[in-house]
Amino acid sequence: MKPHLSRINHYKSPHFRWLSSRRLPDHCNILAIETSCDDTCVSIVSFSPTDRHKPYEVLFDRSLHQPDLLKAYGGVYPFKAAERHRAALPELLGACSHIPIHAIAATRGPGLAPCVAVGWNAAKMLAARLAIPLISVHHMEAHALVARATNPTLTLPFISLLISGGHTMLVRVDNRSTILPSDPLCSYKLLGNTLDIAAGEALDKGARLLQLSEPTGAALSRLADQSQDINSFRFSLPISQRPSPDFSFSGLLTELSKYCNSLVPEDPRRIDLAASYQQAIVQHVTDRVKIVLPGSTSLVLSGGVACNTALQRSLSKLLSDNNMDLLVPPPALCTDNAFMIAWAAIERIWCDPINLCLAPLTLETAPVWPLDN
Ligand code: KG4
Ligand code: ZN
Repeated sequence: MKPHLSRINHYKSPHFRWLSSRRLPDHCNILAIETSCDDTCVSIVSFSPTDRHKPYEVLFDRSLHQPDLLKAYGGVYPFKAAERHRAALPELLGACSHIPIHAIAATRGPGLAPCVAVGWNAAKMLAARLAIPLISVHHMEAHALVARATNPTLTLPFISLLISGGHTMLVRVDNRSTILPSDPLCSYKLLGNTLDIAAGEALDKGARLLQLSEPTGAALSRLADQSQDINSFRFSLPISQRPSPDFSFSGLLTELSKYCNSLVPEDPRRIDLAASYQQAIVQHVTDRVKIVLPGSTSLVLSGGVACNTALQRSLSKLLSDNNMDLLVPPPALCTDNAFMIAWAAIERIWCDPINLCLAPLTLETAPVWPLDN
């Protein structure tokens, strides 16, 4: 592939030549920033840029959330969330300013445009100010690769179910032959995608319809866990003409809305309704995953909805019935976090400590950024 003209200019720039003439130290600290949705996350991870077998260490890892805004607006309000990122980021960066850093990574996309811009622009400014390498990270790639931090034996290729508030897709993750600083590190073959809304969005909107005080999938799941009868409400699962691994959740949400209209807010049957709705989503996802299993050895779950225990149980049974492994990172690494951004950048540095990781300081955010290009 021919590099784009602006990339060629970037490689000729004095900034790039100066940076690429410098080596990262053997004990390198990378600062990572994540602001693609409504969590402001900062992490510093120490690692060896030349030896992937040396253990890494998390020196700092903190996230600030916006539960009050979520409650006030019943969901994420991008410009308000960005305002909060602008206040929260200096606070988090201040809290770790005593730790020396040698490289910076940040989410460049995909995500809510005003939110991504806060973190990416802060990273660009810091990289320029400190004259250290800047690494562009694809948010969904970070979700997909973080399982390798906790499971070092997980080798490419593998299948990943990326299931979050903005995405629901099945991808085959493999090595990429040509790597450019502004592209994802790995190749992603899209096996299945949502045809309408993401599973996380269906759960968040479901929580709102059920009038939960916290409009999130986690709150819906907590309510559902109290149910004694998860089959008391019938949902019709999306049926496709052919056995396709694509997902569809908006019909289930419409059905939930119809049931909610027949219940008063305090009706105790809301518990069973939440459980039946969650079960329908879990069953639909499990049916779709089943289609892509032949020929693979392991499935990696990632993204916020991967924390859902009902989903984990259902997929775990499916995988063990097929003699396959299910890998689920710990909950704190499934939801948005900055460690996964650091990890994706570290994997890039391990591939080529200099040329593959340096993003031009002129690189803009990519709020819409397909994983499979
Ligand atoms: O990956 P993530 O933190 O942010 C995005 O990139 O979207 O995922 C957030 C999504 C939200 O929809 C949230 O409701 C959902 O993950 N989520 C859960 C659980 N924890 C988070 N959904 C179901 N059960 C959970 N325990
Ligand atoms: Zn995410």
